[in-house]
Amino acid sequence: MVGVLGGHRVVPVVVLDDPGRADDLGAALVAGGLPVAEATFRTPEAAAVLRRLAGRSDLLVGAGTVITAAQVDLAHDAGARFVVSPGLSAAVVRRCQELDLPVFPGVSTPTEVIAALDLGLEAVKFFPAEANGGLATIKALSAAFPQVRFVPTGGITADSAPAYLAHRAVAAVGGSWMVAPDLLASGRWDEVTARCAATVAACRP
Ligand code: 3PG
Repeated sequence: MVGVLGGHRVVPVVVLDDPGRADDLGAALVAGGLPVAEATFRTPEAAAVLRRLAGRSDLLVGAGTVITAAQVDLAHDAGARFVVSPGLSAAVVRRCQELDLPVFPGVSTPTEVIAALDLGLEAVKFFPAEANGGLATIKALSAAFPQVRFVPTGGITADSAPAYLAHRAVAAVGGSWMVAPDLLASGRWDEVTARCAATVAACRP
């Protein structure tokens, strides 16, 4: 499952409502050395943004904030290569499995990890990471579930990401610090690229 991330260990979480800005954003991510994005279904134009980003051959693009099976279909149709959800919906997971689309549902408790295992998954998003105890909680969860890989997201920064990534249970981290909405709204693509490059440098093993 985590193989779909192609070894990318930091996933920018994008909230964008203007498909006309998607190409500039994609170019900025590529220039910064982070050619991967989770395009979230949080805005009316989210599917169009996803389609534009996924149309770039130099970018690996998934759909985020997917909370219904209908959104899974929209994401698949728009070219998403993976699906991320803030929570665990069996309907979302099953639709992804029908479409052969890797899915990372959000969990934050042992009960939810067990529910993910019941659905045949061994890689999950840990969300919201910092609000749920961060790395300490991942250490506790992974002691009980050594077969599970986590993608913590929520409140992570360039400074805190390396410590998460150093833990063997962490497959990747997600976050919006390099694609903050104010940067996207004002078209500060150089700053997006600079933050991506700084992240890559900070997270290098
Ligand atoms: C998500 O949905 O994964 C989060 O909104 C990203 O979290 P962050 O904005 O705190 O980085």
